Amino acid sequence: MLIFDQVHYYYRKGQPLLASVSFEIQEGEFVAIVGGNGSGKSTLARLMNGLLQPREGEVRLGHLSTRNTDDLIKIREQVGLVFQSPDDQFITTSVLDEVVFGLENLRVPREEMSVRVKQALRAVQMEDYAEAMPHKLSGGQKQRTAIASILAMRPRILVFDEATSMLDPQGRSQVLSVMHELHRQGMTIIHITHHMDEVLEAERVLLLNGGAIAFDGTPPELFRTGTLADHPLDQPFAVRLQHALGLNTGLKADWKEMIRTQWPTS
Ligand SMILES: Nc1ncnc2c1ncn2[C@@H]1O[C@H](COP(=O)(O)OP(=O)(O)OP(=O)(O)O)[C@@H](O)[C@H]1O
Ligand SMILES: [Mg+2]
Repeated sequence: MLIFDQVHYYYRKGQPLLASVSFEIQEGEFVAIVGGNGSGKSTLARLMNGLLQPREGEVRLGHLSTRNTDDLIKIREQVGLVFQSPDDQFITTSVLDEVVFGLENLRVPREEMSVRVKQALRAVQMEDYAEAMPHKLSGGQKQRTAIASILAMRPRILVFDEATSMLDPQGRSQVLSVMHELHRQGMTIIHITHHMDEVLEAERVLLLNGGAIAFDGTPPELFRTGTLADHPLDQPFAVRLQHALGLNTGLKADWKEMIRTQWPTS
C-alpha cells in the first residue's frame, strides 16, 4: 500500500542521506523503524506524507504519488504524522478545538464533524478533557490529543516519529496502548523509536543505516541474528536478560519464569 521505490534524498547536494531506499508496507501492518541518530528516520517519515519530495525515485500510496500535486492533499489526509514534541503541534486553546481545527481545513460538514470529534476523543480516552487546555495536559494526554486530531481526519496510516520518547513510563504506556488498539482495529502503524522494548511489540522492523534499509524482518530475527552489534542501538531488556542467563528461548517467554528456573528458591 505504501511504497518507497528507489528513493534518493539529500538536504545538501553531494551529501546523500537516503540512497535507493525501497520497501513496501501493507495495509494493517505494525512496523517499527530503527536506526542511529541522523540515519534519516525523520526524513523518511516526512517523505511518507509528502512533506518532503524524493530527489529521485517515488513514494506511492496505492495509486497516489507524492510527486503529483493533485494527490498530495489526499496523501496528507491518509498518512498522519505524530511528532516527538506534542507542544509544537498545538494551535488552539482547547482539546476539542484542536481536533475540530484539522477537520475545518478538510471542510468536513458540521454534523459529521461532531461525530468524528467524539469518536476520535473516545478512541484515545480523552473525551473527559474536551474543554481542557492542551498546554496544561500531561505529556501522555498531549500526545493522545495530537493522535485524536489526526484520527478525526480518518487516516489509513499513522506514523509516530519518536512520539513516546519524551514521555514518562505512564504516558508512554498510554500512547503505546492507543497504538496497539488502533492496530487491532485495522490501522497501519509505523513506529519510529529508540526503545528496543517497543520494537519487540511490532510485527516487522526496518533498520535504517548508511542511507539504506540494512534489515527488514521480524523483531526476533533482528535481535537473534546479532545484526544490531554493528549499530549504536541497544538490545531489548528481555533479550539482554536471556543472553545474561545463557538462554536461547523464544522472545515471548515469560522472563520471571526464566529467572525462577535458573535460580530455584528451595
Ligand atoms: N532541514 C534540514 N536541513 C539540512 N540537514 C538536515 C535537515 N533535517 C535533517 N538534516 C540532517 O539529515 C540527517 C538525518 O536527519 P533525520 O532527522 O532524518 O535523522 P533521524 O534518524 O531522525 O535522527 P534522530 O534519531 O536524531 O531523530 C542529519 O544529519 C540531519 O542533521
Ligand atoms: Mg528523528
